[in-house]
Amino acid sequence: MQFNNFSSQTEEHSERNAQGMTVVLFGATGDLAKRKLFPALYNLYVENKMPKAFSVIGLGRTPYTDDVFQTKVEQSLRTYSRGNVEDEGLQPFLNSFRYCTFDATEITSYKKLNELIGQRERELAIPENRLFYLSVAPSLIDVITSNLNTSGIIQTSGWKRLIVEKPFGSDLASARDLNEKLRTAFHEDEIYRIDHYLGKPMVQNLETLILVNPVLDSLFNHKLIANVQITASETVGVETRAPYYDKAGAIRDMVQNHMLQLVMMTALHLPKKAQPEEIRTKKVEIMEALRPIHEENLQTDLIRAQYDKGEIFGIDVPAYREEPGVPNSSMNDTYIAARLFIDNEFWKGIPFYIRTGKRLDKKSTRIVFEFKERPTLMEDYHPEGLAPNLLILEISPNESISLQVNMKDPSTNRFQPSTITFTTNSSNQPEAYELLLHDAMLGNATFFANWKEVELSWQWIQPLLEAFEENRLPLVSYAAGSTGPKEAKQLLAKDHVNWW
Ligand code: BG6
Repeated sequence: MQFNNFSSQTEEHSERNAQGMTVVLFGATGDLAKRKLFPALYNLYVENKMPKAFSVIGLGRTPYTDDVFQTKVEQSLRTYSRGNVEDEGLQPFLNSFRYCTFDATEITSYKKLNELIGQRERELAIPENRLFYLSVAPSLIDVITSNLNTSGIIQTSGWKRLIVEKPFGSDLASARDLNEKLRTAFHEDEIYRIDHYLGKPMVQNLETLILVNPVLDSLFNHKLIANVQITASETVGVETRAPYYDKAGAIRDMVQNHMLQLVMMTALHLPKKAQPEEIRTKKVEIMEALRPIHEENLQTDLIRAQYDKGEIFGIDVPAYREEPGVPNSSMNDTYIAARLFIDNEFWKGIPFYIRTGKRLDKKSTRIVFEFKERPTLMEDYHPEGLAPNLLILEISPNESISLQVNMKDPSTNRFQPSTITFTTNSSNQPEAYELLLHDAMLGNATFFANWKEVELSWQWIQPLLEAFEENRLPLVSYAAGSTGPKEAKQLLAKDHVNWW
């Protein structure tokens, strides 16, 4: 990809630019900063979406000089940036970065940070707009927010915003507790709870896509839709994250946040371009209408599973319980499938089937709408080979929209399903973190999870966590590299449906 010419950056500044600001990055030596956040800032910069002057202050326990930190940032861009890193313009970008050795539990660290922020604001003549990005262990979140408050760093003459990474709590009570603590220092509209699935371009464009395509809009008809299927399958296993993942499981790691956000975004059906507030209200209404999975439906509507050993891309991989750091008696779920119902007027009676898991046969996140068959064809007309019409929205790793229709094969005179696929031409899409960081800089919280959504998601999940804890739902298994447990197929087979 060709990035814009840096020399024209000043002239090209537009309303898309945020105001001058400081980004304070807690966890600047961590993996997320290296893989996602530095490249995101860089790509916003080369696309002229950063303010003319900005300051980035990285915080971490490891002592670095500014020079060493800037070299680390540069290495991360060269390794992980989605576009080429041109030498031109790179140095001014790196010059915006400073490093502060930091102990989150020590108030003296905050004093030092406050001075550095102020000094850079004066040097760069930027307003006291401060964006705090917390990419730290969950146990540090409330310590940091409370110290930010007492140290005076957030008493600014400009705006202040807080971006918080997941996990946002580990159950309903801890999420509520965390939220109360954050609220002592930040207002709800200053808190940006990041869910990177909401930053995926297809998810962000879902609403507009349907609005601008009357053909797609007409398919959004409850009389036509038979069911909706949302899949987020991964080939990776637990990797090096056992200490976190073995406590979280797929239910907390994926379902409580990403999957339920996808359900909300899919079920939104807005008659016209909506304001951020309307979207949030509608999402909350969907969560309120999401039918709880009661005890009597646990066995019929929910599958929890764990991967066994198997083969992925021709390579033998171990069972979850043999992964480094995982106890060999672990009862943790690495796969969840569920049948959901949204009890509102539009979605009444239309099942949403969701599934997510690690160590599956392929990496794919997609939403599939399956349409009902025509109730009656001609009386004596029984064509062979018909399959349901499908609308498939592929979210990642590639974006596309496909429509499955029935075509007649003239040589056999039988029908067979055929798929028309539309893809975007862009081979270099912005990354989720880029879009979300930009939104947060502009103060647009549409694609962040607000508290009510998060609370309702935990509320919906909570009885399931308790059922898992008490082993009221069997933990089944699936071979690594497979499409998931047979029980997940049976879950749909009862409704005479297949996973797509
Ligand atoms: C993260 C989870 O939030 O999302 C990971 O913690 C998971 O376990 C990841 O692998 C999946 O994200 P993506 O964008 O690769 O589908």
